[in-house]
Amino acid sequence: MGKRVLLLFPLPYQGHINPMLELAALLHSRGFSITIFHTTFNSIDSTKYPSYRFILVEDGEIANRFTSTVDDTVLRMIAWNNSCEQLFYDCLTSVLSEKNEEPNACLIMDMHWYNLQYLANRLRVPTLVLRTGSAATLNWFMTYPQLVQKGFIPVQESQRNMPVIELAPLRMGDLIRVDNCSHEVLRDLLTHEMDAIRTSSGVIVNTFDAIESTEVEKFQKAIPVPVFCIGPLHKFTPPARSSLLVPDHSCLEWLDTQVVGSVLYVSFGSLACMNYEEFIETAWGLANSDQPFVWVVRPGSILGKDEVDLPDGFIEATNGHGKIVSWSPQHEVLAHAAVGAFWTHNGWNSTLEAICEGVPMICRPQFADQMGNARYVTDVWKVGIILEGKLERGMIEKAIKRLMRDDEFGAEIRQRMRALKHEASLCIKSDGSSSINIDKLVNFISSF
Ligand code: UDX
Repeated sequence: MGKRVLLLFPLPYQGHINPMLELAALLHSRGFSITIFHTTFNSIDSTKYPSYRFILVEDGEIANRFTSTVDDTVLRMIAWNNSCEQLFYDCLTSVLSEKNEEPNACLIMDMHWYNLQYLANRLRVPTLVLRTGSAATLNWFMTYPQLVQKGFIPVQESQRNMPVIELAPLRMGDLIRVDNCSHEVLRDLLTHEMDAIRTSSGVIVNTFDAIESTEVEKFQKAIPVPVFCIGPLHKFTPPARSSLLVPDHSCLEWLDTQVVGSVLYVSFGSLACMNYEEFIETAWGLANSDQPFVWVVRPGSILGKDEVDLPDGFIEATNGHGKIVSWSPQHEVLAHAAVGAFWTHNGWNSTLEAICEGVPMICRPQFADQMGNARYVTDVWKVGIILEGKLERGMIEKAIKRLMRDDEFGAEIRQRMRALKHEASLCIKSDGSSSINIDKLVNFISSF
């Protein structure tokens, strides 16, 4: 029998491309043939993956209708889905109609491609949905429409610290939000996504049992299709080559010159931005902490500035103890012995990567699932602290010193983080929970 063809379609954002391509590598190593659909927007460099076939979905006009700010990511995503038929139908049907000895294909798509689910159902293609975020987010998404109906959303400022009974340990202020997107639009989007999941053949989640077993169980009870927790995906495959920006490896050489556990790594992922005032506070918070740091300042991440415009005196103040790069090889940075803490926006990939390397976190979430992820870091796993309210240099300095220099407080967090790292290392062993789930997934796909 020929190899089963898997058609993978990541959402074209860094935090979604990485786990999908890690899944591709994993399934390819299990004998499946891989075809990747990718959009013109944030298209993937196919030359890095000679073993896969790539099919470009021409979406230029839709992507260009929106600004590149984070606020437009959801609106762009909805527009893609609304044009799903026109964009993907031909691509999908031409692959499906190819005559060869291979058995039927299976489509594995990011959960945000919800309309593609209906298209695939019509074409009778089995589908699996990849959730690149946590299992908990699936429960949050499922409950969101009910919270809107009960009048809890939009969240009133006075209720931000109120617990969400249905979603403990979340507080109202942790619920998913994206600035430019109304709660009605979000509600409808999440309803569509959950409906699509229910009609898929199964859900793959980039998480592992030791950190989210309750959340997985709760979600599994609510949907009629199997859930496969097979994370952390990046630990099953060689380092990702799917970076949309070029990583600056000079920070690794710089880290080689630093004391073990002394460096704070600062990065806010691929989409989060800050205004110039916050940037200045961040710069002085880092300088005043006197702690060595690697700081990723991504092009375009300072609103209204094209260039990194550091405050006067900053270079002198941090001379020798700071390194700024525009994009880092994050997996290697977090795994470096010199790194002792991670100031993060808590995108799910960054959160998982920190857990896998045992690096405690300073959390500064901004939008979408990041607030909820941060709540798990601080209140459930207790492996980090959170920076809340207006960002100000004094609070940054204090948080860094507390986490990295307060022997009692920092030591407890580091100990819990080591335990969590150990759990992550167990789940990927051949008898670990994620490895077992991967075997189940492979058998499941082969059974279609
Ligand atoms: C987005 C959303 O912001 C987040 O809420 C959701 O959970 C996932 O999608 P993103 O901003 O891309 O997340 O952050 P994250 O999920 O952490 O993914 C970023 C990826 O880029 C990580 O895999 C990280 O290793 C990588 N990265 C980041 C680098 O390789 N270099 C860097 O300098 C920064």
